[in-house]
Amino acid sequence: MAEVINIDIQKTQNSRIETLDAKNIPFGKLYSDHMYIADFRDGAWGNSRILPYGEILMSPASPTINYAHSIFEGMKGYRSVNNELLLFRPIDNFKRLNVSAERMCMPQIPEEVFMEGLDALLKLDKDWFPDEPGTSLYIRPILFSKDDYIGIKPSDKFDLMIITCPVGAYYSEPVSVKVETEYTRAAAGGTGSAKTAGNYAASLYPALLAQKQGFDQLLWTDGVHHEYIEESGTMNVMFVIDGVLRTAPASDTILHGITRDSVLTLAQDFGMEVEEKAVSVTELIDAIKTGRLTEAFGTGTAATIAQIKSIGHNGDLYELPDVPSREFSNKTLQYLDDLKLGKIEDKHGWIYKV
Ligand SMILES: Cc1ncc(COP(=O)(O)O)c(C=O)c1O
Repeated sequence: MAEVINIDIQKTQNSRIETLDAKNIPFGKLYSDHMYIADFRDGAWGNSRILPYGEILMSPASPTINYAHSIFEGMKGYRSVNNELLLFRPIDNFKRLNVSAERMCMPQIPEEVFMEGLDALLKLDKDWFPDEPGTSLYIRPILFSKDDYIGIKPSDKFDLMIITCPVGAYYSEPVSVKVETEYTRAAAGGTGSAKTAGNYAASLYPALLAQKQGFDQLLWTDGVHHEYIEESGTMNVMFVIDGVLRTAPASDTILHGITRDSVLTLAQDFGMEVEEKAVSVTELIDAIKTGRLTEAFGTGTAATIAQIKSIGHNGDLYELPDVPSREFSNKTLQYLDDLKLGKIEDKHGWIYKV
């Protein structure tokens, strides 16, 4: 890419690349050698730099620590079959970060500050893209307040950071989910569609309760009547009922998933009928009981598609159809996996080459 910004690069003298064993990657514990940082100070972005990965200093009065004045993104990079480094829809992650920034009173990030920093970081740490089948490089951009002022107001100073970590072959076992009818992830007018820190902290307690009951994750319902299915953990949720692909509309109470958008686009390509209309719990259970529900799955960056094997509601557990029988989601997962590894043509312009 034609460079517009100046990035100061300070390379590590102590690379940890020797500790990367692509066959055995501990999840979320091993970070690549470098990190990208850009500052927002006095109303302008600057001081773009790449440093050795390491700890950062924060004031104890930081609004990030005190008030979760922080947003983030999550995306993945892959080493292709031709040994190229490919990212899946990074511009859409960049745009969503700016959508979250607007909602959380944070400055907009210019595209070059994000994309050139990302590109330079990944080129420098190219050896951290693992090469075993199913592995990838997880990329975590973060934007947070760097003020040292304890009053509650929009901050003035921010840091954009990007860190990366290799992740192991991710095969998601089919999950068992519980319809949440007491706690709420997001309410209309709240921050549900922003990828902001507090949403995730608030979801830990209800998720823990469900895990104690033997479930992997929650199926969040609307905050008013707990009747309409919204999303699940870090995934959007889709069902095939009467041959129609159904998912909740992209409202302000769900995260507008990039995988969600990709799966909906592919469904249309595959000639499948799509309806962005929330499924009610009553409708869902009726469709399971009458055999009209043929597929249920989550969509997200972590697993791309995670099959749902059973759904718990009010003490009852409903078993769903066998995973191999699920034609649409299996075909879509295969397509996206092939695309991310550069095995098939990129018809939608979703792949970015580092
Ligand atoms: C709450 C929530 N919903 C859905 C998703 C799926 O979004 P994406 O497909 O962009 O990873 C995520 C993950 O980012 C999430 O955190």
